[in-house]
Amino acid sequence: MRLKGKVAVVTGAGSGMGRAISLAFVRQGAKVVVADINLEGASQTAALIEAEGGEAIAVKVDVTRKAETLQMADAALARFGRIDVLVNNAGSRCLKGFLEHTEDDWHRMIDINLTGHFFCAQAVIPSMLKTGKGKIINLASIAAHTGRPDRVAYCAAKAGVMGLTRALAMDMRGKNICVTAISPGSIATPMNEAAATSTEVAWGKETVVGRWGTADDIAHAAVFLASDESDYITGSEIAVEGGWLIGRARDGEI
Ligand SMILES: NC(=O)c1ccc[n+]([C@@H]2O[C@H](COP(=O)([O-])OP(=O)(O)OC[C@H]3O[C@@H](n4cnc5c(N)ncnc54)[C@H](O)[C@@H]3O)[C@@H](O)[C@H]2O)c1
Repeated sequence: MRLKGKVAVVTGAGSGMGRAISLAFVRQGAKVVVADINLEGASQTAALIEAEGGEAIAVKVDVTRKAETLQMADAALARFGRIDVLVNNAGSRCLKGFLEHTEDDWHRMIDINLTGHFFCAQAVIPSMLKTGKGKIINLASIAAHTGRPDRVAYCAAKAGVMGLTRALAMDMRGKNICVTAISPGSIATPMNEAAATSTEVAWGKETVVGRWGTADDIAHAAVFLASDESDYITGSEIAVEGGWLIGRARDGEI
């Protein structure tokens, strides 16, 4: 049990990676606050956890609203008395060309994918300071590191997540609070449903490993970063993208 006795808050836990991370944490002995703007999805995740004999509460939160993130932390403390791990996983993508992005699209992408991570970290850190230890894991993306087509606000927000990760890690120096990031590649979750189920789109083949990633691939990295095994890692990331970022072979390359 790599997370025995720990309490984790996972945002965006009503779907995809957040659900897989929550289940993986519980299987390693953690109790989980399953937080999502979609309470129905969060409740389904909590029910899956309880069906396995684990402990969880479902909490409705819009991570773009600071007051709601504070209420989420209060709910965690009221039920479990401490917060050891925060996984900033809630995210959303806007697929449009640069000139088609509206002012609202821009703000929505920055608010959900970047400001939400900032608000949730501010909400849980006071409790981590009291217990003297904490882990904050931010979901970034390969879009933080590369230009991706038709996602300008999403890419900017995810690059910002890496800046937040590094700067927050520095601000937590000497506090025993590690701040890390996971950069997923092409992961078959509801966010990618159209591409993952298409017979014409072959994103998996573009990787070195040669397949789509799964939500469980991300959950395995999250368990490590949440556990004491990663106590000497802060301010950096694990890229879970099947080698996509290192480059690709050209057609017929020898
Ligand atoms: N799927 C991929 O290939 C991929 C690749 C790189 C990065 N990511 C990132 O990984 C994370 C998880 O993605 P996923 O694929 O599991 O997506 P998903 O769409 O399956 O899940 C995202 C969850 O976030 C929740 N959410 C959205 N807005 C919210 C808000 N304002 N407040 C609270 N919850 C909110 C949604 O309700 C949903 O349950 C995201 O940050 C995403 O940007 C995904």
